[in-house]
Amino acid sequence: MRKQDPYSLVGKTILITGASSGIGRSIAIQSAQKRAKLLLMGRDQERLKETLSMCKNGCKHQSISLDFTVTQGWQNEIEQVLSEHAPLDGMVHAAGISPTIPLKIAQHQQLLNTFELNVFSCIKLIQLLTRPGIKNKRGMSFVLLASVMSEAGEKGKFLYSMSKAALVAASRSLALEYAAQHMRFNCISPGVVNSPLSEKSVYRGDPEAMQRMLARHPLGLGEVADVAHAAVYLLSDASKWMTGSNMVVDGGYLAQ
Ligand SMILES: NC(=O)c1ccc[n+]([C@@H]2O[C@H](COP(=O)([O-])OP(=O)(O)OC[C@H]3O[C@@H](n4cnc5c(N)ncnc54)[C@H](OP(=O)(O)O)[C@@H]3O)[C@@H](O)[C@H]2O)c1
Repeated sequence: MRKQDPYSLVGKTILITGASSGIGRSIAIQSAQKRAKLLLMGRDQERLKETLSMCKNGCKHQSISLDFTVTQGWQNEIEQVLSEHAPLDGMVHAAGISPTIPLKIAQHQQLLNTFELNVFSCIKLIQLLTRPGIKNKRGMSFVLLASVMSEAGEKGKFLYSMSKAALVAASRSLALEYAAQHMRFNCISPGVVNSPLSEKSVYRGDPEAMQRMLARHPLGLGEVADVAHAAVYLLSDASKWMTGSNMVVDGGYLAQ
């Protein structure tokens, strides 16, 4: 009998937030190549449809478009979809924003919006996915997109850093809380990768700041696929002994 490839996602159903762009889209495409069935979330319906069209693999994927910061009661809508596709085998939280806000002008609403999207929407989804009737009793894998800024500081990035460190901290405790149920929680902390998010960054408009950013990445800036490879590994059974970790994929940023 042929041995199953441990990196395969065949037979697994995976929810991916932020699937309409950048890293989330790349994770969707690579997961589809590994034969997963996908529930893809994002705000922009057209770009979500584009992602769907890039993921054809014979499985009946579904897309769900909503804004975590404005849609009221989205959990009810999602719960319905999840129960139709249960059991779920994993989730990737790639939806996120990266505000650059000096402390002295930061407003409470900006703190709330950032945490609502980067952290609370993720925690609410995990609560839904771990419910009886939705979770896969054989085990699950949760992959949360953090950042090198969960470990290192940067001027103007206190809010972003706080939100990403919150994901790393939460995943460690959740890893312990759910280990007995074979539910694994891991973060990925990328350095700067070329994506619509990083292309909007403040340093892109300032050649000197851009040079400094490049110098912080000994291997140069990354591509979305570099992060997606790590996510697919964490979703697959090849990583079945990994939980509570923060996988750094950063071109050497944190080595300095
Ligand atoms: N790119 C980097 O250099 C880098 C480095 C470290 C960590 N990260 C992290 O990796 C993740 C993905 O980044 P990326 O570069 O792929 O960013 P991106 O291309 O800007 O994609 C962000 C995704 O989040 C979704 N999103 C934004 N606001 C939302 C909201 N209110 N409700 C629901 N979905 C929302 C977007 O949906 P729409 O496009 O449909 O609006 C999009 O799918 C983020 O968490 C980011 O912090 C990125």
